[in-house]
Amino acid sequence: MVYPGDRPRRLRTSAAVRGLVRETRYEPAQLVLPMFVGEGLTEPRPVSSMPGVVQHTRDSARAAVAEAAELGLGGVMLFGVPEHKDASGSGALDPAGILNVAIADARSEAGDALVVMSDLCLDEFTDHGHCGVLDDRGRVDNDATLEIYGRMAVAQAEAGAHWVGPSGMMDGQVGVVRAALDAAGQVDVAILAYAAKYASAFYGPFREAAGSSLVGDRRTYQQDPANGREALREVLLDVAEGADVVMVKPALGYLDLVAAIRDRVSVPVAAYNVSGEYAMLEAAAERGWIDRERAIDETVTSIRRAGADIVLTYWAAEIARRR
Ligand code: PBG
Repeated sequence: MVYPGDRPRRLRTSAAVRGLVRETRYEPAQLVLPMFVGEGLTEPRPVSSMPGVVQHTRDSARAAVAEAAELGLGGVMLFGVPEHKDASGSGALDPAGILNVAIADARSEAGDALVVMSDLCLDEFTDHGHCGVLDDRGRVDNDATLEIYGRMAVAQAEAGAHWVGPSGMMDGQVGVVRAALDAAGQVDVAILAYAAKYASAFYGPFREAAGSSLVGDRRTYQQDPANGREALREVLLDVAEGADVVMVKPALGYLDLVAAIRDRVSVPVAAYNVSGEYAMLEAAAERGWIDRERAIDETVTSIRRAGADIVLTYWAAEIARRR
């Protein structure tokens, strides 16, 4: 008999041994809960493609933010679902617009107990559903959009956002947002840059959750899923323009980029476990095809193992409740 010289199984013999040698852990403080707040809702509206997720009323959003803080979550990422939309997404700039009031509500509820983050993008506010304004030929106008993003960032900061998350993938958006915030005296408001954001099929359920009315697609501004090196280019540009944190989105199909980016930059790296990733796991669990809780834990563990410091996930509160 030739005995194996090396026995990795020795370090898997009991839960205690496995716990001692476990390389990756995560805490509620590293998780961020994305939340949708609907204008004019009198009760929370379930999102059918995301079981367990709702469009909140202002009141239920406040309660959810308070709970998130009590659970020790690192933050909440707020999305507004306006009642009225127009071509320029003017609801995004209005201090009485749903996202800005939701930010103010969250801040008054949680203070500094967690990080209040807001999505900085026009797609929920435009009637055509694009992330920017259109030129006379119907194309998304990069530089005209930047000017609006700058004002939107100031509106969100004034409402009380700790971090703003420019997610529209316009060229130069981080620099413009930083300059606008600084000029308004909002020097402590940080930028979570959706730096490497792909034109992904996995945002499908988000369209329902955010009430987005997009016709067409976002391929002229979001990245081609086939391109990895390009993500590094986008990240380095965003860091140079002043991003405080860079994010990869979606997470699961893009863990190679999370790892590569973690190696290349010294700012914190976040990853967004998106709506479609949530929906497919929930759908499989509902059919009894996978063990739901283990699959959720494995999902978040894998994103952390790849190198993400921060994970945005719709399961954040549930995970924290289980601790
Ligand atoms: C843009 C935005 C989107 C998501 C977050 N911010 C939609 C898109 O870019 O098409 C998707 C999040 C998810 O799918 O969970 N405002």
